[in-house]
Amino acid sequence: MTNKVIQTISKDSLKLASELWPELKWINNVELREQTLNTWALALQTSPLTVQDLNKIPFTLLVKDCPVTFMEHKRAVVHISRDAATQMIEFFGDNLPIDMDTVISGAILCDVGKLLEYEKVNEKAVQSDYGRFVRHPFSGVGLAMQCGVPDRVLHIIAAHAGEGDKVKRSTEAYIVHHADFMSFLPFMNK
Ligand SMILES: [Fe+2]
Repeated sequence: MTNKVIQTISKDSLKLASELWPELKWINNVELREQTLNTWALALQTSPLTVQDLNKIPFTLLVKDCPVTFMEHKRAVVHISRDAATQMIEFFGDNLPIDMDTVISGAILCDVGKLLEYEKVNEKAVQSDYGRFVRHPFSGVGLAMQCGVPDRVLHIIAAHAGEGDKVKRSTEAYIVHHADFMSFLPFMNK
């Protein structure tokens, strides 16, 4: 199943995904880096949104006139997650084991399902019917599973948003969850 899906991913999508995410190179494990890249490529070739759209549309539909783009927000979350994990590893060491590859892959993938959550109406991104019924934590897990992404990263995608408040989050999932929310909630108060 996984191999069949991966064979459908085009070279163009892989190129677009790797250009979109320079942070992929931070993932040391080659297999995980490929699985993460493949998931984004699969999402890009399935989505109504283009790379240009991702660099233009607001990162949330919940903030009026949101000044920050989808990609600016997404990349900030990855950088904040990595920096937070670096400090936690330095201060807590073996007392709180953290797998950096899992943090980075999870942060890159946590919103990948949003590419299926939107549709374009009059050149504007709006939530589709599919997106209302199947929010991005669920569609993101669906995409990542098709690319063989391991459970510990699927967990981060599944638990990064409000749905995850009912879940016992891993340390890596806490980091991505807080990086995501600290980059989102302040815009709600502006
Ligand atoms: Fe999200």
